[in-house]
Amino acid sequence: MPAQGSKPCTIVIFGASGDLTSRKLLPALFSLYLKDRLPENFNIVGYTRRDWNDDVLRQIIQKSIEEHMDFDEVADAWKRFAPHLHHIHGGLTGAEDYQHLHAALPELEEGAWNRLYYLAVPPRFFTDIVSGLAQSGMADQNGVWRRIVIEKPFGSDLDSARSLNQALHTHLDESQIYRIDHYLGKETVQNVLVFRFANTIFEPIWNRNYIEHIQITVAEEVGVGHRAGYYDGVGVIKDMFQNHLMQLLTLVAMEPPAAFQADALRNEKVKVLNAIRQPSDMDLNDYLVRGQYRGYRDEEKVAPNSETPTYAAIRFDIENWRWQGVPFFLRSGKRLAAKTTEIIIHFKRPPHVMFPLPEGYKISPNILALCIQPDEGIHLRFDAKVPDTAAEMRPVDMEFHYADDFGECAIPEAYERLLLDALIGDASLFTRSDEIERAWELMDPFIDLPKGKNTPKLEFYEPGSWGPAAADTLLGKDGRRWLRGCADEKWQASQTNSGC
Ligand code: BG6
Repeated sequence: MPAQGSKPCTIVIFGASGDLTSRKLLPALFSLYLKDRLPENFNIVGYTRRDWNDDVLRQIIQKSIEEHMDFDEVADAWKRFAPHLHHIHGGLTGAEDYQHLHAALPELEEGAWNRLYYLAVPPRFFTDIVSGLAQSGMADQNGVWRRIVIEKPFGSDLDSARSLNQALHTHLDESQIYRIDHYLGKETVQNVLVFRFANTIFEPIWNRNYIEHIQITVAEEVGVGHRAGYYDGVGVIKDMFQNHLMQLLTLVAMEPPAAFQADALRNEKVKVLNAIRQPSDMDLNDYLVRGQYRGYRDEEKVAPNSETPTYAAIRFDIENWRWQGVPFFLRSGKRLAAKTTEIIIHFKRPPHVMFPLPEGYKISPNILALCIQPDEGIHLRFDAKVPDTAAEMRPVDMEFHYADDFGECAIPEAYERLLLDALIGDASLFTRSDEIERAWELMDPFIDLPKGKNTPKLEFYEPGSWGPAAADTLLGKDGRRWLRGCADEKWQASQTNSGC
């Protein structure tokens, strides 16, 4: 896994004055440095339009590192790391900007170094940067590699994603493009594959014969905050479903790839996306609930009559042998009752009950909860006999928490793994062009809604609730209900002030 020992590399961050660089990218790179996972010779170049110099950039990043870790403990390492940080001033659109960068980078490198270009900029600059790099010769790979990492959002619908892919492919080979979805960098998301394919007991029951339905919840307590101006034109389906939730769905539903290799893995994910039934206009009410939290329209920079959904629940059906008849219910929203990301596998009830149960009592179904965050782990719920009764039973939980087995601070930031993989050249956890286009194709009908009675109306929900009641009806029609399988109170209490 370490990129250490590999060839020298320059990481150029476009948009380095933004939040992402100081909050996520540089702390992740510094953490990789502390673990000896960066190449021996490396530069990190912050490319911005600011009137900064190397010292200013270093001070800003140091401040952010101080907020992330006990600085006294890493002060010596920081002194060694900081000289690798450089600032280069320039714009994103002019040919002369790229000529300047092209001339400046070799001054920091000793010979032919590899380069990772990280595009932490608003999407409208993606094509300018890639064509600027290509036209100035900075994308040429003569005995070295040139890769670009692209932040989300990658397009805003199928057409724009296709055009963006075409524009990138004019200058770059697909193998040079790393489209990031930070959910794939999360350990617990990667663990979905380990759980399914490194154990023998789950895969045989991972299908329509045993599973009744699946729920995926990505709930946030926060509202749109300072991102309101951006968010209001976007909404939850573009912001969360098209990328993060679809990634979770494909990992849960995919067939086992023959090898843990980028294309083998991504081929299987695309097969799942291709097997999802494309809902027609006629049945949208049976598939989609859109919500907006009360008070959203009063947020600064949000239009007073905004129709942007901050919550959605969507039903997907996967039409293949494994999943026929097993609906997948996905929900995500802002200003909900708790922050939690969890995948619930809801098994079927036993086919026959031999116990003399009280009138109306039903045996509870087994529930397997894959807890992505913040209670990272896995819970399995099953019925147990209540002691000292004839045959009374009650559901109990068997739990695994990462913190218990691997230590409280064992889980690194998602960006650490993704940056390292991009440096190593492993694209397994990055989204391929066909995958991203198919995800948009599936989402577009839920975003660009036709007018009329078949279009789900925007439902309002109270901040701090679990979303609009219509989302309960979406499941309730068939006697199902939304479940929470993670983050029990006992565990949460033991985790307060963990200091990680
Ligand atoms: C981002 C979205 O991609 O993911 C944000 O743009 C959202 O709106 C965030 O808050 C959630 O990420 P996480 O890792 O906190 O679940």
